[in-house]
Amino acid sequence: MLVRVRAAGVDQGTWHQVTGLPYLGRLAFGLPRPRMPVPGLDMAGIVEAVGTKVTGFRPGDEVFGIGRGTFAEYTTAKRIVPKPANLTFEQAAAVPVSACTALEVLRGVEAGQRVLVIGAGGGVGSYAVQLATVFGASVTGVCGPTKVEFVRSLGATEVIDYTSTELSGQYDRVLDIAGSRPLPTLLRLLTPRGTLVLVGAEEGGRWIGGLSRSFGVLVRRPFTRQHLRAPLSIVRTSDLTRLSELLTEGRITPAVDQTLPLIDVPTAITHLRNSRVRGKIVITP
Ligand SMILES: NC(=O)c1ccc[n+]([C@@H]2O[C@H](COP(=O)([O-])OP(=O)(O)OC[C@H]3O[C@@H](n4cnc5c(N)ncnc54)[C@H](OP(=O)(O)O)[C@@H]3O)[C@@H](O)[C@H]2O)c1
Repeated sequence: MLVRVRAAGVDQGTWHQVTGLPYLGRLAFGLPRPRMPVPGLDMAGIVEAVGTKVTGFRPGDEVFGIGRGTFAEYTTAKRIVPKPANLTFEQAAAVPVSACTALEVLRGVEAGQRVLVIGAGGGVGSYAVQLATVFGASVTGVCGPTKVEFVRSLGATEVIDYTSTELSGQYDRVLDIAGSRPLPTLLRLLTPRGTLVLVGAEEGGRWIGGLSRSFGVLVRRPFTRQHLRAPLSIVRTSDLTRLSELLTEGRITPAVDQTLPLIDVPTAITHLRNSRVRGKIVITP
């Protein structure tokens, strides 16, 4: 399916894609050069043409999901669903990778549970706070001082500015999206049968990067009654459909901080790397 891109989302994965770091990631992105020379995965757009075996979509349909090399005028679709009519293309393009990841790392959360979201003001975090709230959890968001009001507006019952307040208390689920705290510190924040989910980490060196912490989880898992997870999330059509329903009902809303033109992709990635983005940044061709 050929899709005319109307907007494309940017996430930390884009930086890994264009830099080829950490090196271990090249097993996925391509050795010795990128398999896909054009970066970009998230997108929203209009179906331009369909192959003979395609069912359920036809030219002119408005869709969102993931495609191949979406920082371009056109892309071929990998996984897409119809775009909710109440969303702009820019909003829809901000959904796939970050919201599917948030949904994945919240699987099993029950109403009444206490959830701590570390990195609540970013792409994955902005959806995690909203989704956990929709699932009936009580959410504490952790972010820097410039994002406190933003995280509160997403529905967090409590917001902690990590520059002025130490993390304390016990939570049924801790999502470490920012990825800078040692495992023992995170485990102290968990109830005896709580769940720690390592979502991301941008530290750990050029060879294995944040995956070093995932290995730490594997080593500790047999020796604790707490649940330790470090999932690699993928964008599933079923998850996009579920998110689409929540978006249509207005129960979650994409937080688009900024929209930049295609020529400014490097600026967008730099903003994201410098933690300047509240929620998501989106590219338009
Ligand atoms: N496991 C997977 O499959 C998967 C999927 C998607 C993404 N990820 C990973 O998840 C991570 C986050 O992705 P993202 O797209 O949400 O990135 P993002 O939009 O850059 O969000 C990260 C947030 O963390 C905050 N932060 C930085 N240092 C912090 C600290 N010490 N304590 C609390 N918050 C802190 C940043 O802003 P402030 O400091 O201003 O609050 C920023 O808002 C990345 O490492 C990415 O690679 C993993």
